[in-house]
Amino acid sequence: MAGRLITIEGLDGCGKSTLVAGLAAELESRSLPVTALREPGGVQLAERLRDLVKDPSLQVNARAEALIYAAARAQLVGEVVLPLLEEGRCVLLDRYIDSSLAYQGAGRGLGIEAVAQINDFASGGLGADCTLYLRLDAATRAERIGERGEAADRLELAGDDFFARAATAYDELAAAEPQRIHVLDAAAAPAAVLAAAIEAISELLP
Ligand code: TYD
Repeated sequence: MAGRLITIEGLDGCGKSTLVAGLAAELESRSLPVTALREPGGVQLAERLRDLVKDPSLQVNARAEALIYAAARAQLVGEVVLPLLEEGRCVLLDRYIDSSLAYQGAGRGLGIEAVAQINDFASGGLGADCTLYLRLDAATRAERIGERGEAADRLELAGDDFFARAATAYDELAAAEPQRIHVLDAAAAPAAVLAAAIEAISELLP
């Protein structure tokens, strides 16, 4: 497989979408074939599952939630990510397995190991070549989410303890896999975050 899978992770409000757009533009400007996708979503089945899992009017228990994210991931990987990597493209993915480990494994308390197992099955064992973790302190995050002023989806309603557990899990995942997971200061200006991200992925680029 010639392509590269680069995932972008972090809590809601940390600036992932801005970074994905900036990185895609940067790689394109270097004439590198790149495709940006988001999770859950990116393909029709996964976009429908996204609507279901985010809907605040639905009851979704923790195990069902983990399986819905894993199902969306299985479809995205099989339908587009693997073919793109085989074509030699660089795939930028806004969230991947680490999101499930942090949110469902730690946030919902299902356990990192159990959630890792279902995701190994879902992804067929496809891991990221490199992960950029946008780390943001709780106060700055709260400020940014307040500024957005959008109605909260089901996950965003989960409460401060949930997000504190997810944040701790991200930190632990990053500490356990420093080669793969690069921690970026998400409180920095967007241009500085982008520069740090380009530096972090530079060894993957031709
Ligand atoms: P989204 O609007 O894409 O949020 P964000 O811009 O922060 O990525 O919604 C996705 C939500 O789903 C977000 O709250 C994180 C959550 N999520 C999980 O809980 N587990 C997962 O495996 C994934 C991919 C997302």
